[in-house]
Amino acid sequence: MGWIRRLVEILRLVALRFLMVGGGLAEFSIDVTRYYFRNGFGLVDLRLRFRYLFLNPFRMSRRWHEENGSGHVPAYGETPFSTLGAIIDRCRLTSRDTLFEVGCGRGRTTFFISQVLGARVVGIDLVPRFIEIAEEVRRSHSLDNVEFRLGDYREADYSGATAVYFYATSSEPVDVEAFLSRLRATLEPGTKVITVSRMLSEFKGGSPFLLVESFPALYPWGTAEVYLQIYRPEKAPSGQ
Ligand SMILES: C[S@@+](CC[C@H](N)C(=O)[O-])C[C@H]1O[C@@H](n2cnc3c(N)ncnc32)[C@H](O)[C@@H]1O
Repeated sequence: MGWIRRLVEILRLVALRFLMVGGGLAEFSIDVTRYYFRNGFGLVDLRLRFRYLFLNPFRMSRRWHEENGSGHVPAYGETPFSTLGAIIDRCRLTSRDTLFEVGCGRGRTTFFISQVLGARVVGIDLVPRFIEIAEEVRRSHSLDNVEFRLGDYREADYSGATAVYFYATSSEPVDVEAFLSRLRATLEPGTKVITVSRMLSEFKGGSPFLLVESFPALYPWGTAEVYLQIYRPEKAPSGQ
């Protein structure tokens, strides 16, 4: 009877694999019809996908952080385009914005916002290979409204931003606090700060980030709360 159980388990895994591939294909066809024809975004995204044909960003990120990080290995993940589209609408981002993407990974979302919305976007990440490949794709398409910076978001300069997007789900509180300290040192008052899973006012030094609204959004691993905050240093209670 052991072999029947094993066969059922194998069939279950095969069915799961089919579901995943099917789900991926469905998402891809929605992305193509909705976004690929806007400002040539499809060609940029296809080139980036092609560069990653034999590379796995999840493994690349884990390996780099294991070998070079300070102990905590953040989980890699990407914001789906449809979720990013909803965030753009809900947070009223426009082509006049300069958005800083904190931890931009391989840059898929950075290219999405710059091409689909037409805004200027600065993507920051610690993993050198992500930045090298993204920069190569940027150059091949002569995109001048995108910039990639190799660096640590806990030490970055955010001057020039009118909006910041931070997928903070797997960030440690101490990293969020270091990020907040850099924002307070370099950000212009009135800048929008959009964070996933972390409401800034709950962290030390986060009181100047006033919550405007929050809403649920879909990520590959489930639903997360997205917080739209505005940086208003003058409204911070004394002591912060
Ligand atoms: C979860 S991925 C998010 C990718 C992308 N922002 C998105 O929403 O699709 C997080 C990224 O943050 C990067 N990261 C983690 N710690 C960082 C740090 N201190 N400074 C800069 N990037 C960091 C990781 O290398 C990884 O690529």
